[in-house]
Amino acid sequence: MSYETIIVETRGKVGLVTLNRPKALNALNSQVIGEINAVLDGFERDPGIGAIVITGSEKAFAAGADILEMKAKTYPESYLEDFITTWDRIGQRRKPIIAAVAGYALGGGCELAMMCDFILAADTAKFGQPEIKLGVMPGAGGTQRLTRFVGKSKAMEMCLTGRLMDAAEAERVGLVSRIVPAADLVAEAMKVAAQIADLSLPAVMMTKESVNRSYETTLAEGVRFERRVFHAMFAMADQKEGMAAFAEKRPADFKNR
Ligand code: HXC
Repeated sequence: MSYETIIVETRGKVGLVTLNRPKALNALNSQVIGEINAVLDGFERDPGIGAIVITGSEKAFAAGADILEMKAKTYPESYLEDFITTWDRIGQRRKPIIAAVAGYALGGGCELAMMCDFILAADTAKFGQPEIKLGVMPGAGGTQRLTRFVGKSKAMEMCLTGRLMDAAEAERVGLVSRIVPAADLVAEAMKVAAQIADLSLPAVMMTKESVNRSYETTLAEGVRFERRVFHAMFAMADQKEGMAAFAEKRPADFKNR
């Protein structure tokens, strides 16, 4: 299948999605979101894919939802089409997704990055929720996810003023897992993704599910969920292989079952 707004590659067991609307700084219109979802549907079904990287350009991961596409929308239109709901599917994927962010990740771009499982940032990355300057507010989870990532005070300041956060601040407050030099960003994200893709896929997916559960439940229920899944892992051949490999001092050869 060919795409117009993204470039899709697979390298080994890693799927790489590069946002590709350079003239609009990768602004996210309905076509981009549709194409991302179509690719992720395929990656989710493909047993040969173990991890996914989403990245943009050097200048922009994505400068937001496409303002030109949105500007004339009416309330009934946005209600009837349930505008933005299709974006949520990106955050509901079961395989791990790394956001590799260089340059601007603003508005919907920041929200897209936060829907991924973790964010690797180039030293050039700039995050922000500037929607307030357009007379609106974040609509793809920004008021919720940013607050969970960085706490109320900083999230409130960013959403109310539209101030941008540079990579160093984003790392300090836990929005990104770490910073790498811009020139190494995609290679480093692909390396980390390949490491993850070499592990037991069911164990990786269950781990993702369990970490994400911490956002949806109480500590006691989350720990109970974790324990149930942990116990279930002893039914997996990959658990036997992983622990046998350790005992036999050899690399594990996971079969993903
Ligand atoms: C549509 C956009 C765009 C956007 C940039 N462009 N951002 N088009 N939607 N979000 C276009 C510009 O119109 C311009 O097109 C081209 O990309 C280059 O942008 P410039 O502004 O010329 O570049 P620069 O001066 O370097 O400034 C970069 C920038 C600025 C600071 C990132 O582009 C900017 O402020 N963009 C908007 C950021 C924003 O408000 N994002 C939130 C959107 S609302 P032309 O044709 O003129 O060359 C949102 C809602 C989310 O995301 C809620 C639901 C998802």
